[in-house]
Amino acid sequence: MEALFESLIDGVLEHQFTSVPDFLPPALVAGLRENLQTRLQNGQMHPAGIGRAIGHQTDASVRGDLISWLDDQPENPFEQEFLATVLQFSDYLNRTCYTGLNAMEFHYAIYGPGSFYKRHKDQFRSDSGRRFSMVTYLNEDWLPIDGGALVLYPENEGEVVFFPEGGRMTFFKSDVVEHEVLPTLRPRMSLTGWLKSV
Ligand code: OGA
Ligand code: MN
Repeated sequence: MEALFESLIDGVLEHQFTSVPDFLPPALVAGLRENLQTRLQNGQMHPAGIGRAIGHQTDASVRGDLISWLDDQPENPFEQEFLATVLQFSDYLNRTCYTGLNAMEFHYAIYGPGSFYKRHKDQFRSDSGRRFSMVTYLNEDWLPIDGGALVLYPENEGEVVFFPEGGRMTFFKSDVVEHEVLPTLRPRMSLTGWLKSV
């Protein structure tokens, strides 16, 4: 795991972002995907808000995903395994880069066909706690013609495109990297969250 963590950190230090195709093993991806689908069937996925400064608003012309937050201490074994991996990574970052991360938050997200998330940053003026964004995809057999790419706009570098293939994880600095989700043609599932200092 440490070699993976090292390569993620090297990427972020050099380019402000990094993306790896197989951050999670297939069985964990499948378990998390089933959790998301269960929450969707139970009516537990809700339209996401935009911004914080102007209060909690939803606007499908900015973002069209439905989300559901993970508990801090989940009972579900797949969620426990996921958060344990993230905590290991966060501890590793703190040890090697003195990042002072001390909190995290994650939500499931699903974008239905036709939905997107316009270009934005993840750190709001009233929420400087988000230090790193971490997006892990839960989709099976994604093809480029399915759309739904994540486009990153790192400062001083050209844009970069990643497709939401199951197990892929994209990690970037929340305060500087603008990004957007292009319209998807099929349901697009992820587990997205933030490493924070609060
Ligand atoms: C977000 C976001 C990117 C993605 O939820 O803030 O930018 O690829 N997600 O889902
Ligand atoms: Mn974002």
